Amino acid sequence: MSAIESVLHEQRTFPPPESMAAAAAVSGMSGYQALVAEAHRDYEGFWARLARENLTWHTPFAKVLDESNAPFYTWFADGELNASYNCLDRHVEAGHGERTAIIFEADDGKVTHVSYADLLQRVGRFANALRKLGIERGDRVVIYMPMSIEGVVAMQACARIGATHSVVFGGFSSKSLNERLVDIGACALITADEQMRGGRALPLKSIADEALAMGGCEAVTDVIVYRRTGGKVDWHPGRDRWMHEIAETQASDCMPEWVSAEHPLFILYTSGSTGKPKGVQHSTGGYLLWAAQTMKWTFDWKPSDVFWCTADIGWVTGHSYITYGPLAIGATQVVFEGVPTYPDAGRFWKMIADHRVSVFYTAPTAIRSLIKAAESNAEVHPDRYDLSSLRILGTVGEPINPQAWMWYRKHVGGERCPVIDTWWQTETGGHMIAPLPGAIPAVPGSCTLPLPGILAAVVDETGQDVENGQGGILVIKRPWPAMARTIWDDPERFRTSYFPQELGGRLYLAGDGAVRDKDSAYFTIMGRIDDVLNVSGHRLGTMEIESALVAHELVAEAAVVGRPDDTTGEAVVAFVMLKHACPVGDEAARIARELRDWVGKEIGPIAKPKEIRFGDNLPKTRSGKIMRRLLRSIAKGEAVSQDTSTLENPGILEQLSTLAQ
Ligand code: PRX
Repeated sequence: MSAIESVLHEQRTFPPPESMAAAAAVSGMSGYQALVAEAHRDYEGFWARLARENLTWHTPFAKVLDESNAPFYTWFADGELNASYNCLDRHVEAGHGERTAIIFEADDGKVTHVSYADLLQRVGRFANALRKLGIERGDRVVIYMPMSIEGVVAMQACARIGATHSVVFGGFSSKSLNERLVDIGACALITADEQMRGGRALPLKSIADEALAMGGCEAVTDVIVYRRTGGKVDWHPGRDRWMHEIAETQASDCMPEWVSAEHPLFILYTSGSTGKPKGVQHSTGGYLLWAAQTMKWTFDWKPSDVFWCTADIGWVTGHSYITYGPLAIGATQVVFEGVPTYPDAGRFWKMIADHRVSVFYTAPTAIRSLIKAAESNAEVHPDRYDLSSLRILGTVGEPINPQAWMWYRKHVGGERCPVIDTWWQTETGGHMIAPLPGAIPAVPGSCTLPLPGILAAVVDETGQDVENGQGGILVIKRPWPAMARTIWDDPERFRTSYFPQELGGRLYLAGDGAVRDKDSAYFTIMGRIDDVLNVSGHRLGTMEIESALVAHELVAEAAVVGRPDDTTGEAVVAFVMLKHACPVGDEAARIARELRDWVGKEIGPIAKPKEIRFGDNLPKTRSGKIMRRLLRSIAKGEAVSQDTSTLENPGILEQLSTLAQ
């Protein structure tokens, strides 16, 4: 709450620079309000106009929004298009083939430029190769690849032939990969031999082999491997193929598959309140429209811009603001393979200077760690670099504290660049609440106002609006084109997770708490209201980590909570009861290490608990429910001041408070 308090008392306001406002796609508050009013007057007409302006349709749509099967809304369903055609061909046809699409910088600093014409050819060849393997419209292809041109090519090639891709972040374990391959019924897996991060080669193919060997995914008949490092890999003849070998024999012309706007472009797994990740399914038309439109509104994209989003293609940010949004509008963008701290923590600033980046989009957690690095080593301070090309700065993924916001504005943005705090989610497809750079005065720590056409609100547990100044539940009141369509293979979970009956069944429940400012009506996000943690901008379900822990042979019971962390936003704290006596000293340290590694193997290194506390038991009510609010207090190091009268075993609190590993 203290972060919220400080934002609520935040007096600093930063209006858009006049010159930017004058030239912006959405110019001044009046420009913003005109769009909001247009959506209010004729909601469907507003979206139809944007869909026609942003996308090239093979068959124009007649129907805009269909609400008859709510909450399974459809948009532009009788229209046909192809996402890859919209991202590539149409720019080449318009004479922009020579324009640079991707400036790729490898981990070791090697730079490769790819033009739109080149990218179209590479995608065409690979799409033909996928077709030759028998992959067709509607088939699911899992992509487990490093940040690379090839990763973007793989996604675009799937889109080109109407196959639905599901990218699994390269940091996930073989078990997580296996679960996703099985759940989605994948027929092919595209991976790489290894990935390069921070000067080290990390395996991908061997993890993929392990995932496939775990079984349940026998439908995967083809494994396509991008040769990144040339490192040694096991080879399964008949199943494994090199990406370059199958592509180089193909023609570069590849007829796009025209699909309905509702055709599933991709499925991306994300964490929810249960142990099983949700396969969030996105459409082609509505999704792409918003990826393109938000590039123009939120980032006020101009043809002279060099855009850089530092996300990984394994997350939704990498989908919307690397693979689809920038390409859909014909932008030039930087794609980076490596990490911000290699060879030193000045890497981002050096790359901005080298590539003359003008719009830079990153996560608060990266900013916070680079602040720390700059404070201890003047060599990597952004002030040492020429960042004069920057015009707009963005952040995403988690709340940004006002101090980090101010530092970002001052030291990276030279006090001239608006800082755009964008609130959105895997499920929303694109930005939902953000200060448009030429229109909305920014306030540190607040994502300010919803984008035109997005009806965000704060309600109570019954779905009634709360007054500004009161905290509540963040909802979206009307369907929007880029919203998720369903959860793969589990429509009922889609309905109950996002459109709960308690709120009336029609409001989209985001899962975040929020408050609006009394005067400005600006939104401030208060964090998740469910059992989802946000560590370094990555979503992790507490239940997923608990399930992983109890799967270990020594563990009887586990409860996982989050606690605030200066760098990562939140940190994972696990309370563990072993099957044998509570360990102490060296044994406790050894088992804690073993459990951390175990979680790393079960889910991925991002889910490893920062702290593990062993106890003879967990604090439970007499009915056997774990009292998580007490655990949260202990994790924060607070004295437990809550009512513990319903606690069955009060002595346990002291033990858990003292034994952190
Ligand atoms: O809690 C919110 C937080 O990240 C969650 C969505 O995570 P994910 O689906 O992984 O997508 C992340 C990238 C869009 C949200 O429910 N979140 C995201 N952006 C912000 C944020 N919290 C505060 N401020 C933001 N700008």
